[in-house]
Amino acid sequence: MALFKSSTRIIPDAPAVPRHIAIIMDGNGRWAKQRMMPRVMGHQRGVETVREMVKSCRQMGVEYLTLFAFSSENWRRPADEVSFLMQLFLKMLEREVTKLHKNNIRLKVIGDRSRFDAQLVRHIEEAEQLTADNTSLTLTIAANYGGRWDIMQAMHALSQAHPDRATAFGEEELAPYLSMHYAPEPDLFIRTGGEQRISNFLLWQLAYTELYFTDILWPAFDRAALDEAIQSYQKRERRFGRTSEQLKTEPESEGKSVA
Ligand code: IPE
Ligand code: IPE
Ligand code: MG
Repeated sequence: MALFKSSTRIIPDAPAVPRHIAIIMDGNGRWAKQRMMPRVMGHQRGVETVREMVKSCRQMGVEYLTLFAFSSENWRRPADEVSFLMQLFLKMLEREVTKLHKNNIRLKVIGDRSRFDAQLVRHIEEAEQLTADNTSLTLTIAANYGGRWDIMQAMHALSQAHPDRATAFGEEELAPYLSMHYAPEPDLFIRTGGEQRISNFLLWQLAYTELYFTDILWPAFDRAALDEAIQSYQKRERRFGRTSEQLKTEPESEGKSVA
């Protein structure tokens, strides 16, 4: 069974501080270009922002932070940029995992690992194992992740588990096989860098997520910018299909099954 119920099956809570924030960290290349530096310097500097966001989210009591680091389409980039990003990921795992562990942070990596080299896969597995029982923040890095890949791999695993099934599968049967089965759906989605698109990130899980777009480039995104995103989120009315009047008169309907 899925640990968390789907927003289309029950009306979820709408916490004032987002329980789960998912971010597309975009604009590294442009940040570097503006400074006459090679694109990869933007990726390097973007790591600083990751550290700051992890710290801020933990302080604020956000339970899940999910960061899109490399999409299944990013292999289309020049080979030297791809290899720099892979090296950076490996270095991050080598250098930062002890610190994450000390801060009681659980690390998860989602995405297709089949294209990663053996050393990287080993580091990912070790980091996940080391931090598996930590309870402060769950930090998920989406690497070689694609929303369509996720749905397809889940569908494949589900049908393998039920080879003789003749009737249609239900949504809640698929959910445990999705990469983020261990987390509630994101409350807040942030994309930096000015583009207003999902770029094949968490397609299934963003069904009822509040979307926030900012022109700030990822290396320049900071605590104040995060606070602004959260303030915008706090002004939204999360109706999950109901009317505004219903929210005022039936607040107790949260958590109610809509199936
Ligand atoms: C996001 O920054 C990082 C990755 C996709 C790995 P970009 O590299 O996409 O930066 P821009 O969008 O070209 O400025
Ligand atoms: C999305 O950024 C992926 C990540 C941040 C990892 P891109 O910069 O690759 O997205 P597009 O290509 O502009 O949509
Ligand atoms: Mg980009």
